[in-house]
Amino acid sequence: MVKILITGGAGFIGSNFVRYMLDTHPDYELLNLDSLTYCGNLENLRGVEENPSYTFIKGDITDKDLVFDVVEDVDYIVNFAAESHVDRSIEDPAIFVKSNVMGTQVLLDAALNLGVEKYIQISTDEVYGTLGEEGYFTETTPLAPNSPYSASKAAADLMVRAYNETFKLPINITRCSNNYGPYQFPEKLIPLMISNALEDKALPVYGDGLHVRDWLHVHDHCTAIDLVLHQGRDGGVYNIGGNNEKQNIELVKLILKILDKPESLITSVEDRKGHDRRYAIDSSKIQKELGWKPKYTFETGITETIQWYLDHQDWLETVKSGEYQNYDEKMYGGR
Ligand code: NAD
Ligand code: DAU
Repeated sequence: MVKILITGGAGFIGSNFVRYMLDTHPDYELLNLDSLTYCGNLENLRGVEENPSYTFIKGDITDKDLVFDVVEDVDYIVNFAAESHVDRSIEDPAIFVKSNVMGTQVLLDAALNLGVEKYIQISTDEVYGTLGEEGYFTETTPLAPNSPYSASKAAADLMVRAYNETFKLPINITRCSNNYGPYQFPEKLIPLMISNALEDKALPVYGDGLHVRDWLHVHDHCTAIDLVLHQGRDGGVYNIGGNNEKQNIELVKLILKILDKPESLITSVEDRKGHDRRYAIDSSKIQKELGWKPKYTFETGITETIQWYLDHQDWLETVKSGEYQNYDEKMYGGR
């Protein structure tokens, strides 16, 4: 039986990936290692706990003894675990270095020690820095990260690359554009704007609002990772993007329109320090090499996503109230 260690599986993308893998590979065994930071939420995995192919372990990827214990007999490691919010990295960079860089290095050592079939690093397009109005990030675009978050992700990528070159550890790195979909923590643009609009609160748009992001539905991200896991060429980097560029202001107005809320809720606030102007991914490599194709158009994806948050306002409430942090104790206390 194939056994996969998924780290950070209680976060936004990780929990979607756990659900996706249990659906598409019911014969695989999944181990989810997550330290449950403010972003880790076992409510994201409600219902999954009963699946006999799934095990949750609370633990930190920087804890070498624990990680070495946990990886015993896994075939693959997929590392989602990270501090992921740019604004927080501007306030407190240290934890980004610890989790994102040192945590990755511990996982690489464990992968090497065990001799896994493959280690996958879930990285980001932000390692390439920013684009002007023209052009796209390709896999050969030089790394030029601008925030402490993206610098920590770039540092981790370089460590992964080095373990491949030096120790011949089989690896792939995926670099993805902005994800959206169910279970995203409402500090990120789309769920924050939906949540504020539902409460008729101000929608804070940074600077002139003309910054551009390339939106990818999280389900399409999961299908891409699945392909890379099984068919990715050793050592290969794969860019994954939705080809859905939107200016922030355009996106916020669309959310308000779908929710039938007034644009007067939009409030212009001070810009993010070092704010990257535009991200846009060229994902032709993964399309040509592995036959990946996104399923969602942005129009379908955003409508479905908004509907998901409307249908899961209880989830939003538990996250905003902090109540979800008791779920761990309720479900796993005493075990
Ligand atoms: P998230 O913040 O929602 O989830 C991160 C998860 O990692 C949480 O469950 C958290 O508890 C866990 N975690 C954090 N530090 C840990 C540690 N030291 N040990 C164990 N677990 C730890 O993040 P996300 O948006 O799901 O992103 C997942 C990965 O994908 C990250 O590596 C991120 O850099 C990358 N990524 C995200 C996006 C995006 O748009 N969200 C795009 C490209 C790449
Ligand atoms: O590109 C991939 C990256 O996308 C991931 O690596 C990160 O983990 C993920 O957080 C995301 O980073 P961004 O900084 O692009 O996402 P965020 O949702 O924080 O912001 C999206 C855009 O919206 C950005 O231009 C900043 C702007 N913004 C964000 C917030 C939270 C606002 O204007 N107002 C806000 O309140």
